[in-house]
Amino acid sequence: MNFFNKGRAIGKDGLSVETMTKGARLITAAEPKNPVSEQFRTLRTNIEFASVAKGEIKTLLISSALPSEGKSTVTANLAVAYAQQGKNVLLVDADLRRPTVAVTFGLNKNASGLTNYLGDSEKEVGSIIHRTAMDNLNVMPSGPIPPNPAELLGSGRMTNLISQLKTHYDMIIFDVPPFLMVTDAQVLMTKMDGVAIVVNGGKTNRGAIQRTHEILKIAEAPVLGFIYNDQNRKKKGSSGYGYGYGYGYGYGETKA
Ligand SMILES: Nc1ncnc2c1ncn2[C@@H]1O[C@H](COP(=O)(O)OP(=O)(O)OP(=O)(O)O)[C@@H](O)[C@H]1O
Ligand SMILES: [Mg+2]
Repeated sequence: MNFFNKGRAIGKDGLSVETMTKGARLITAAEPKNPVSEQFRTLRTNIEFASVAKGEIKTLLISSALPSEGKSTVTANLAVAYAQQGKNVLLVDADLRRPTVAVTFGLNKNASGLTNYLGDSEKEVGSIIHRTAMDNLNVMPSGPIPPNPAELLGSGRMTNLISQLKTHYDMIIFDVPPFLMVTDAQVLMTKMDGVAIVVNGGKTNRGAIQRTHEILKIAEAPVLGFIYNDQNRKKKGSSGYGYGYGYGYGYGETKA
């Protein structure tokens, strides 16, 4: 598991590959008392508040408009924060294009995952779920990268899988690709109890925010709120992370 990998590895396409190659930084596990870990617990609490209004939230999808806004970092740490609360948690790597969960949780890179299950009707759910070093936290890695991610995620087999998982877990968190780039997140949104959008203080521009608003409306996504992930904010003792959760703000009001 990688807690403190430093520096930003950048791929040929100019996007960060740090979480794909080294794993997300699990500050909630490594430093539960750090103010950043406290912010993840606040995020958890805010999602719980949202569920009072929206009904029970067992499936939560976290996406963003653009790449590298912090989805994988947020989903992994939020999953740990729920597990630390004693909830039975599953983190699903539904980013079938830039997966991170296997490496974050130190699984074998050939570990069976979501695409193995979706592409093989004989495959058992139990074989694609893996334990982690943390109590109460299981993970489902992506499996091999397929040629047709959106088609797999939109399939009836995916819908059935989600229903089955809901009978076993208190909380299932989905990491997905950015929804302005590909349709993968959009096809999954309607199958979820709740959707939260990571907004990056430095990256998400006004055009992206407007388009996001339109897409979420068209998809009739059950939006709970936005997670402000300000990678530029440096606070003493916060390891350079800034997370905040804004519940119920309209996109026109965000300052991104
Ligand atoms: N609040 C933060 N402060 C500092 N660095 C951060 C913060 N959030 C994310 N990062 C870093 O930004 C990079 C991108 O983060 P991450 O991989 O979680 O984003 P992503 O949205 O999942 O990207 P992708 O679109 O590739 O799936 C990583 O190097 C990660 O460590
Ligand atoms: Mg990611």
